[in-house]
Amino acid sequence: EQQLAGKDFLTLADLSKPEIAYLLELAAYLKKQRLRGIVEQPLQGKTLGMIFEKSSTRTRVSFEAGIYQLGGTGLFLSSDDIQIGRGEPISDTAKVLSGYLDGIMIRTFSQQVVKELAESATIPVINGLTDSYHPCQVLADLQTIEEVKGGLSGVKLAYIGDGNNMAHSLMLGGAIMGLDVCIAAPGGYQPEKAITQQAQSLAALNGRKVEVTTDVHAALDQADVVYTDVWASMGQESEQSVREQAFIGFQVNKKLLELAQPDAVFMHCLPAHRGEEVAADVIDGESSVVFQQAENRLHAQKALMTALMG
Ligand code: CP
Ligand code: NVA
Repeated sequence: EQQLAGKDFLTLADLSKPEIAYLLELAAYLKKQRLRGIVEQPLQGKTLGMIFEKSSTRTRVSFEAGIYQLGGTGLFLSSDDIQIGRGEPISDTAKVLSGYLDGIMIRTFSQQVVKELAESATIPVINGLTDSYHPCQVLADLQTIEEVKGGLSGVKLAYIGDGNNMAHSLMLGGAIMGLDVCIAAPGGYQPEKAITQQAQSLAALNGRKVEVTTDVHAALDQADVVYTDVWASMGQESEQSVREQAFIGFQVNKKLLELAQPDAVFMHCLPAHRGEEVAADVIDGESSVVFQQAENRLHAQKALMTALMG
């Protein structure tokens, strides 16, 4: 068993390759148990607080159902309702919640807020999405890739679209676990340089590559996984029309998918916009594993909570 108890999960780089491998193994086990109808409750009596400053379907429901299935309770804390929304300092909130709860999941805008929360909290803090990262999604995505490709090492993942929180977390998670990752994004919308460099150093430890390009064809060449995400993330709604222009040529459609390996799978964290970043016949087609990804959020996060809060 890895030394995960009490740790925070703010980005994938908080965990080592063996720690992530352990979580993926535990996630696969918990998924099997659930399919067999076997209930195990290692988190009996434990409570997870879930702070949301942005909307959510998957993250909220998978964490809340997940903690319940593990024997614990989840508290949905909308920032509209708790005192954070009225300006109570994050550090005070962290200290107060640490006295009541056994873990905090937070979805917010700035990564700095999550860092501050973790610094002042004495219980594990889990990043449920910021403008910079979405590590829980990528944990479930790695589980999904392992299921459909039979392993992670040497798999090539091409991400076509905005260099956003998903791109950042896929680069980091892919790099740590030995995938080759290539991000194709238009100029001005590429991933942050510092995160790209961090991912490239991590990839080098596995003899793998993380690349960023504007060339969609180069990214898709030999790709085993083709991933995309929305062009305008939560908080960027006012940029929608400018972004639609900037991302012309970056829609994952049948023609682009054919540039990847014949057995390539299509992935998307959801929610998706059919006709924008992905064509309907791709996301609803036979290469798509988007609902398997969504289901795995439950199993991967149950593994995460068990390891951090158990
Ligand atoms: N993929 C994802 O995190 O979805 P939600 O925004 O619905 O939580
Ligand atoms: N990049 C998207 C992901 C949603 C799960 C967003 O931040 O809105």
